[in-house]
Amino acid sequence: MNLTVVGTGYVGLVSGTCFSEMGNNVTCIDVDKSKIEKLRKGIIPIFEPGLEAMVAKNVANNCLHFSTELKDGLKNADIVFIAVGTPMGEDGSADLQYVTSVAHQIGREMDHSVIVVDKSTVPVGTAEKVRDAIQEELDKRGVKIEFHVVSNPEFLKEGAAIEDFMKPDRVVIGAENEIAMKVMRDLYHPFTHSHDRIITMDIRSAEMTKYVANAMLATKISFMNEVANICELVGADVNKVRIGIGSDSRIGYSFIYPGSGYGGSCFPKDVKALKKIAQENNYEPELIKAVEEVNDRQKLVVAHKIIRRFGEDLSGKTFAVWGLAFKPGTDDMREAPAIYIIKELVKRGATIKAYDPKAMDESQHFYLKGVKGISYLNSKYACVPDADALILLTEWKEFRSPDFGELKEKMKLPIIFDGRNQYGVFNLEEKGFEYYQIGVKNVKNMIFNEH
Ligand code: UDX
Repeated sequence: MNLTVVGTGYVGLVSGTCFSEMGNNVTCIDVDKSKIEKLRKGIIPIFEPGLEAMVAKNVANNCLHFSTELKDGLKNADIVFIAVGTPMGEDGSADLQYVTSVAHQIGREMDHSVIVVDKSTVPVGTAEKVRDAIQEELDKRGVKIEFHVVSNPEFLKEGAAIEDFMKPDRVVIGAENEIAMKVMRDLYHPFTHSHDRIITMDIRSAEMTKYVANAMLATKISFMNEVANICELVGADVNKVRIGIGSDSRIGYSFIYPGSGYGGSCFPKDVKALKKIAQENNYEPELIKAVEEVNDRQKLVVAHKIIRRFGEDLSGKTFAVWGLAFKPGTDDMREAPAIYIIKELVKRGATIKAYDPKAMDESQHFYLKGVKGISYLNSKYACVPDADALILLTEWKEFRSPDFGELKEKMKLPIIFDGRNQYGVFNLEEKGFEYYQIGVKNVKNMIFNEH
C-alpha cells in the first residue's frame, strides 16, 4: 500500500519505518526542514534501538521517503496517518492545534479518496473534529471526494519501539466504515499473523482505550509507590511484597516495580489529559487525580532521603548520579525524576557528577541546561571519586552489577541511594555500605517517619 505519515516524532517515525519494512511504500512528512534533510541522510533525531539501521535499509530500497511537502505524500496515498504531537496545553488538556492543522491541509490538498488515521493520542471526539476540518476544506473547494477517518492509537514503548510495532500485543482500530476497517485490517495483518491481535471497535472507544491503558499502568505504579512508602513505615520490604502479590495471576508481576515515579512523554501527559476529559464532562476523577499527586511526590523521595541523611544544607557535598533518562534504553528525559532530584540537590548547594549512557546531551543542552553545579563524566566509575554518596536513578544494564569493591575504595563515603531498587540482592550492608532503597525500612532514614 502507499502510505503517508505526517509527523516524524517518535510514533510517526517508528510507524512509518516499520510499515516500510513490511513492504509498503511510505512517505514521512514533517514541517521541520533540517529534520527531513537529516533523515534523508540516515541521521535519526532520537535514540531508539534498531531504528537507524531499519531507516537506512528502507531508504536504500526506495520504500521509505522523507519530505516537507504533504502534497508529495498525498499524491498516491491509500492511507494518511496523522502522527503529529499533541503536547499538553496550559490547562492540562491535549493541544490539538497540530492535528487539526494537518486535517485542514489534507482537505485542501487531497484529490482522491483516502483513509485518514489518527495515530496521535487524542481526546475522545477528535476523529469527528478531523472529519469536520477535512470536509470544511472540501466544501470550500466545492469538490466531492470520499474519505474515512479511523482511530488507531499506538502503544509502543520507547527503547522497545521497533519490537512493539513489529510484534504488537494488540492493534486497536476504531472505525465506522466497513471498507476502511477492511483496509486497516489488511495493513496490519502481516504484523499480527500468528494469531489475530486486531481489536476493532467504534472510534470513540478506540480513542478512550489509549488513555485508559496508560492511566491504568500509571495507576499500578503509583499504587506500588504508595505501598512502598507504607512498607517503610511499618518495617516491611516492598520488594518481597511485590513478589508476594505479583504471583497472583490476576495482579501479575509487570508494572508493580516501586521507584522514583513514572516519567516519559506518555504517562504524565495522558493521565493529565484523561483527568481533564473527565472534568470537562463534569466528573471529578478522584483516583486519577491521586495517581498524579502520588507520582509528583514520589519523584522527590530520593532527594528527601538524602536531605534526611546529610541535612538541609548540602553545600560541600558531592553526589555521583548514575542515570538521567526517564528509563533505560532511551535518551529521553521528559519528566524524568533525575530533573527534579538534581535540581533539589543543587538548590541546596550540592555538586553533582553525572553519567548516563545516552541522555547526557539532552540533559546538558535542554533539561538541566544552565543548572550550575553539575558536571558530566564519560563513565560510571569516573563520577564516584570523592563522592559523599552514589545515587542510582535509571536502571541501565551497565549499572546493575557494579564492582562494589571499587566503589567503596573510590567514594568518600560508602553510601548508596538506590532510586530503582536494583542492589537489594547484594547484601550491601555486609559489604560495609550504608544502603537506602525505596520502600525498605532503614531505621536511620525513613522519609515518612514524621507523620
Ligand atoms: C508507555 C506505555 O508503556 C506505552 O504503551 C505507551 O504507548 C507510551 O507510554 P513509555 O513511556 O515508553 O511507554 O515507558 P514505560 O516503559 O511504559 O515506562 C513508563 C515509566 O514508568 C518509566 O518512568 C518507568 O521507570 C516507570 N515504571 C514502569 C515504574 O516506575 N515501575 C514499573 O513497574 C514500570
